Amino acid sequence: MVIQRIFSGIQPSGVAHLGNYLGAIRQWVSLQDKCESIVYSVVDLHSLSVPQAPLLLKRNIRSMTVCLLACGVDPDKSIIFQQSQVPQHAQLMWLLSCRTPSGWLSRMTQWKAKGATSDRDVVSLGLFAYPVLMAADVLLYKATHVPVGEDQLQHLELTRDIARSFNSTYGATFPEPKPLLSNHKRVMSLRNPLQKMSKSDNQEMSRITLSDTPDEIRKKFRRAVTDSIGNITFDPAERPGVSNLVTIYSAVTEISTEEVCLQFEGKQSVDLKEELAEILVDKLGPIRERIEQLESDEGYVDDVLTRGAERARAIAEDNISTITRLVGLS
Ligand code: TYM
Repeated sequence: MVIQRIFSGIQPSGVAHLGNYLGAIRQWVSLQDKCESIVYSVVDLHSLSVPQAPLLLKRNIRSMTVCLLACGVDPDKSIIFQQSQVPQHAQLMWLLSCRTPSGWLSRMTQWKAKGATSDRDVVSLGLFAYPVLMAADVLLYKATHVPVGEDQLQHLELTRDIARSFNSTYGATFPEPKPLLSNHKRVMSLRNPLQKMSKSDNQEMSRITLSDTPDEIRKKFRRAVTDSIGNITFDPAERPGVSNLVTIYSAVTEISTEEVCLQFEGKQSVDLKEELAEILVDKLGPIRERIEQLESDEGYVDDVLTRGAERARAIAEDNISTITRLVGLS
């Protein structure tokens, strides 16, 4: 597989959670040794598709950048930047919006779940158009591969449709970007294992965040919803809670789900919860420490974002000038 350029993004919604880490960020880090052209963005414009408190948004942009650095995203190997610092994202979004049938957007599962059922006098045009901004993010850099969790696959499919449609009108311009899915593409909520672990869940207990203390991690696993069956099996349909814990255990220890079940033969959910909590305390401890160090080094984080935006802008300016020429604007 030839990976020419990678792009991916994450919304600045505070500290990343375990789903972000296992589904995306961990892969972002390991890809740095497999590809020389990598662009990762803290996608602040996406956040604005739902209401945001300005001061909190500002703080969250920084916190998410800190999380990425603490996990091992390396500004010497990847471009890491804040989306709104590169205005060509919004520019390309408009150009692509004018070519994207609105029917494609109304079929997006996330829109159907979050937007279509809400009051049309409240829900924003931005929330509806959000997948076009995501397509613009990826296509602006002519990315060939996009590491994401499973919930973003449909948006990436749309990105490919948009790229294909543009290419068929104006000639081969964009590669059709392929997803890179991690083995642990879907981590579920600890409180409701039928829903994905998410930052928008208002129950703090539903997710482990990368800055949780050892006690918080232990408490959250102790309270994780499982069932009353007294053994450990992997059966997401019948036993979603226990299976989610097996998945997380498998992801963190890098052994298969079958091996996890064998290892816990004759044991109970409580044993799995306890052991998993200790493993995560060990794994997340160094990340939490780096987060604390970086939080107190504002100058460094600012420099990373300034340098990242300059490098991203250089690629974006180059590509947008070709695109505006192709569509007849220049
Ligand atoms: P976001 O910010 O919701 O999530 C960032 C990444 O984390 C993955 N993820 C998960 N993976 C496994 N289990 C979970 N519970 C879980 N929750 C989140 C997501 O799949 C994602 O990879 N629209 C995107 C951000 C975006 C983007 C892009 C991504 C904007 N432009 C261009 C790729 C390319 C989003 O809201 O991700």
